[in-house]
Amino acid sequence: MAAISAPALGSGLGYRPPFRADLFANRARVDFLEIIADHYFDALPEKLRELDLLRAHFPVVAHGLDLSIGSAEGIDHAYLDKFAALIERIEPPWWSEHLCFTRAGGINIGHLAALPHTREALDVVARNVETVRKRIKAPLVLENITTVVRVPGAEMDEPEFLTRALDATGCGWLCDVANLYTNAVNHGVDIDATFERWPWDRLVQIHYAGGRWRDGVLIDSHDAATSEAVWALYDRIVARAPVKGVILERDERLPPFGELLDEVERARATLKECGRWG
Ligand SMILES: [Fe+2]
Repeated sequence: MAAISAPALGSGLGYRPPFRADLFANRARVDFLEIIADHYFDALPEKLRELDLLRAHFPVVAHGLDLSIGSAEGIDHAYLDKFAALIERIEPPWWSEHLCFTRAGGINIGHLAALPHTREALDVVARNVETVRKRIKAPLVLENITTVVRVPGAEMDEPEFLTRALDATGCGWLCDVANLYTNAVNHGVDIDATFERWPWDRLVQIHYAGGRWRDGVLIDSHDAATSEAVWALYDRIVARAPVKGVILERDERLPPFGELLDEVERARATLKECGRWG
């Protein structure tokens, strides 16, 4: 059964302002956009006009960075109000956040921090999602993140933690294929052996991206073309689970726009082959 009822959106791009002109010149080659929600909070009128322009030409979903769904202290209501206002403005079929925390003890820690894989953390996530749901009705999907070091005290592994988090909250899954691959490489996990333990029946959206090696660790740097290893995993996942939309994330070292379009097209070809789109 599908995790949420929403239309399939196809193969899209994480919107970044530097390629805005190229994007509009190639509108027909991008099926939908994902915006970074936080960039439109407290935004100047011209930024909101940009958002309205994007909305007028593409289906748009929103991706948050700082909701901190795993914070034991609960959700920051001022932040949630801003998010809710954005969701009301753009009415996306779904929106997403990371299964992590970014705030602790009232301090913003400035990055996506991994939750301990414990029952206690699951309770916190469930409570926070309930708070968020009271304010935002559009379906929330949660994304798996990368972890350089494993948080001690784990009572379960990542596939089980994610599955339980989605079961407890009723949220869909945004599978970041590059993150899944990166964690497997860095932590020596056999993807083949664990593949069926991921919650594929809850899949809604995919992220894919390129990373790079730094000091013997694979980093999800979003600054290179998607690797063949990630493409292979992407193909396998699209064949396995009825995904509704896939997004290329590219943040640094932006290449000529045609190279991004090539990746978007390659991702779309797999969606079509597997009957997920078109
Ligand atoms: Fe991602």
